[in-house]
Amino acid sequence: MHTATGTAAPDKQARQHASHLQWYPMTEPAEFANADPLIIASGDGVWITDIAGKRYVDARGGLLNVNVGHRRPEVRAALISQFDRIAYYPSFDGTATPVSIELAERLVTLTGQEHMARVLFGSGGSDAVETALKITRQYWKLSGKASRTKFISLRNAYHGTHLGGTSLNGNAAFRQAYEPLLAGCLQVETPWLYRNPFSNDPEELAAICARLLEREILNQGPETVAAFIAEPVQGAGGYIVPPQSYWKRVREVCDRYDVLLIADEVITGFGRVGAWFGSRMWGVKPDIMCLAKGLTSGYVPLGATLISQRIAAAWEGASSGAAHMHGYSYSGHPLGCAAALVVLDITERENLPANAARQGERLLARLQDLKERFGLIGEVRGKGLMICLDLVSDRRARIPVDASVARRLAELARNAGAVVRPAANYIVISPALTINESECDLIFSAVEAAFLTMEKAN
Ligand SMILES: Cc1ncc(COP(=O)(O)O)c(C=O)c1O
Repeated sequence: MHTATGTAAPDKQARQHASHLQWYPMTEPAEFANADPLIIASGDGVWITDIAGKRYVDARGGLLNVNVGHRRPEVRAALISQFDRIAYYPSFDGTATPVSIELAERLVTLTGQEHMARVLFGSGGSDAVETALKITRQYWKLSGKASRTKFISLRNAYHGTHLGGTSLNGNAAFRQAYEPLLAGCLQVETPWLYRNPFSNDPEELAAICARLLEREILNQGPETVAAFIAEPVQGAGGYIVPPQSYWKRVREVCDRYDVLLIADEVITGFGRVGAWFGSRMWGVKPDIMCLAKGLTSGYVPLGATLISQRIAAAWEGASSGAAHMHGYSYSGHPLGCAAALVVLDITERENLPANAARQGERLLARLQDLKERFGLIGEVRGKGLMICLDLVSDRRARIPVDASVARRLAELARNAGAVVRPAANYIVISPALTINESECDLIFSAVEAAFLTMEKAN
């Protein structure tokens, strides 16, 4: 029976059985077989509470999306108000709702300096990427250059889980189980200072990696390359911050060969990196932007693909092949749009990008100090409120620890009061952008306690 509190099964054993009826994304079933999921019953601000009543700082910010914090009354009011008008109506065949129109206008205004002109909504980040890829293919057909079909992405990139995005993902772990994938998807080196075979100098590395992109475009034949797609700061790859000049160099290379630049801002959009958008932070105007996550702060699933004026112009006056034979039942979902509008209000009013920059810089510096004390930490890096502890078994050789070490540390941090995310050999930290100094200090203390406990046990 459904219960309003969400704990459908009454006793622990029955609950454990029930909890294994759902498959958990990015989880190894064998490792999880005898484990209990963390079952979160409620949230408030940066805090979450599990079904046993234990409170934690949500140092994951959900999944890097809960930017304005949990259980905001303003969001609740906006959702109820929209629900009382209409909860759902599609945007197929030229229908709309006032909120979808308002949000499209708001997003275009917000990205005025990037010259974004059109919006196609979806249900999340993977949709936003898939839409970008299909818009790109259609753009080239409309422009009379149908041979431009290939996509280039970066090693360590993550572009979601649809087959298009999966084909562009730079970690084999995200691709292998689903091969064969989309033809004509290629990867080039990511400018990752900590792990690369080329250079320890950031600007030299940026130049080398931009040249490698250029070389791949030439190698494929520029007339076959549709777009280069990248995250302004790589997320799932390990919070990899490129050198300052990398994106500018990439823009130049793309312009030289008429290759579109798609910025996958699913994580970096709306303040997470300490600026409104990652590409803006790097001083670059992409041709297409993929947005999701922080757009609604996770309250309702919603994604958006923004298309620049230059690209959108190809649709104007096109006599055939211009129909948007793409879109989702939930494109422009009114509840998602209502949530997004109020989340944008909060983000602006509370200047959350600036808070992310301030709190992130301070927390990063504190965590970097831990490196002096614990040999397991190879590097602590990040931008804004995206912080990653890169764990190594050998500091000199920078050999990643086994994923079980990161999982154990995350468990210890959770026992000490903060839910951080273990991923491969990383511990990643990405709380709500509303976080204050003392809450950041709680995250720090929980992480420090986890390392101390681990050290004692070894
Ligand atoms: C850069 C990037 N693109 C796309 C996605 C996919 O988004 P979603 O999980 O909402 O489908 C993610 C998810 O983490 C992401 O980090």
